Amino acid sequence: MAEKQVKSKQRVADHGEVFTAEREVNAMLDLVKQETERVDSRFLEPACGEGAFLVEILRRKLNAAKKRATLPKRKSPEAFAFEKQSVIAISGVYGIDLLMDNVLACRERLYRIWEQEYDAVCKNEATDECRQAVRFILNRNIVCGNALTMMCVDENQKDTKAPIAFSEWTFPFNDTRVQRKDYSFAELMTSASMEDEIKRTGQMDIFADENGEVEPLLLRQYIFDYRRMQDYGE
Ligand SMILES: C[S@@+](CC[C@H](N)C(=O)[O-])C[C@H]1O[C@@H](n2cnc3c(N)ncnc32)[C@H](O)[C@@H]1O
Repeated sequence: MAEKQVKSKQRVADHGEVFTAEREVNAMLDLVKQETERVDSRFLEPACGEGAFLVEILRRKLNAAKKRATLPKRKSPEAFAFEKQSVIAISGVYGIDLLMDNVLACRERLYRIWEQEYDAVCKNEATDECRQAVRFILNRNIVCGNALTMMCVDENQKDTKAPIAFSEWTFPFNDTRVQRKDYSFAELMTSASMEDEIKRTGQMDIFADENGEVEPLLLRQYIFDYRRMQDYGE
């Protein structure tokens, strides 16, 4: 079935909204294939629409998660190991869009792709707590905002007083605990070390400078069990 790349002429005129076709998305992602097939890589789509790039990235990351969660000489992934790897995979997918309907559609597409794999692999070991954790991560990672001013926007796409903030999710323990650190997007993008890294490598890690140090930009930090994520902050 042909993909719908334009919703209306008005939206094209008002917001330049034309979605990228799957074939082009995959061709572009293949230029950074290794990163797209790494469970813990991070991608930001700054005008994400309904997540054309993010959904393909997530598919690739989930395939990598399955491989990582499969023991040697076994054919299928271990349920618990896949659950954690799949949470790591989705926590590295970030997007911004000016239009709330696109943000909601993007979150939902990503959630459905994750849930389909989660249910297929984990079967009766799948939990609602993990499903809620993934919803929570997507609500924080896919943001309704203006990627140029770096501010959250209201229903009329006007800047609010809230700067866009992103969470860095890491899983430093051998269990279901996650560390969440929040940073202002504006500060992340304008830090001198970021400009250096882009010049040097053509890519950037939005959360780390060249020494792996991020503390000066930190807004908040939490450590908690991802299966109880909704108990901790927004
Ligand atoms: C050309 S579409 C691309 C969507 C998606 N990246 C894709 O490839 O299918 C541009 C998107 O950017 C959004 N947009 C326009 N101006 C923006 C801004 N200043 N900040 C964030 N999103 C913006 C529009 O709502 C639209 O969804």
